[in-house]
Amino acid sequence: MQIHGRLYGRLYGRLFGRRRFLGGGGRLAAGMAVGVVGAALIGCGSDEPKAGATSTPAATTTAGASATAPASVTASPTPAVVRASVDLLVIVDKQRALPDGYVPPGLQPIPAAWHAEGESGQQLRGDVIEALRPMIAAAAADGVSLRVESAYRSYSEQARTFAYWVSVMGEAQARRESAVPGHSEHQLGATVDFSDASNGWQLLESFAVSPSGKWLAANAYRFGFAMSYPPGGEAITGYIYEPWHFRYIGVAAAQEWQASGKTLVEYLEAVKKR
Ligand code: DAL
Ligand code: ZN
Repeated sequence: MQIHGRLYGRLYGRLFGRRRFLGGGGRLAAGMAVGVVGAALIGCGSDEPKAGATSTPAATTTAGASATAPASVTASPTPAVVRASVDLLVIVDKQRALPDGYVPPGLQPIPAAWHAEGESGQQLRGDVIEALRPMIAAAAADGVSLRVESAYRSYSEQARTFAYWVSVMGEAQARRESAVPGHSEHQLGATVDFSDASNGWQLLESFAVSPSGKWLAANAYRFGFAMSYPPGGEAITGYIYEPWHFRYIGVAAAQEWQASGKTLVEYLEAVKKR
């Protein structure tokens, strides 16, 4: 399938970039990775998640409604869609999943021109697209070309992605880099992975020093976007540094978050207790 092939093509690129980034022993590691990736590519013909990657971990809870601004949930023509009251400040992490079957309200395709090279068909909530529009324009005015690598990710896409990473690096490392299905902020339709041409369109830590990475770290909060997984935050966030992953929480909240100096999950916990 086209989407599947694109996903794995991008992940394949990321894998090799990652090995290069790791340095010493890279040739051997890359050689070994060829076999693993080849096997993963052979096995990726199905839309169904691979066995073992679909269940959410034990002892997780459902995020459900948060105590903050009411959700702007729109009626969906799809019966399977859960009309849950999930708003922009809900916590989604390793402990807290989205409700079963959650699909965000108002999903729309992003403008074609916003896609990173080789990408297409990415979707976000309509209100998040409108929030992203001035940010992309402001970055462009500063000479920075922000591009969307990945946006909304359905439960089944999360299952495929997580299973892929398990097949490549084993479950323990995959859990540090990829959310198990139902636990990804990408399912909110409010989260974007950006990539940058100068970084080979790769989701690597080196994105942080690309023009897009530097611009986003300094400015995204002004437009309502927060970096979910900062450097040195793994003990709190559960994930390695992801300088490309930004979640829209609204301009007022993002400014408050920035001023707080907290990780996003800590800030959202504090908001929930108010
Ligand atoms: N890479 C982040 C944690 C995700 O899978 O949502
Ligand atoms: Zn992401």
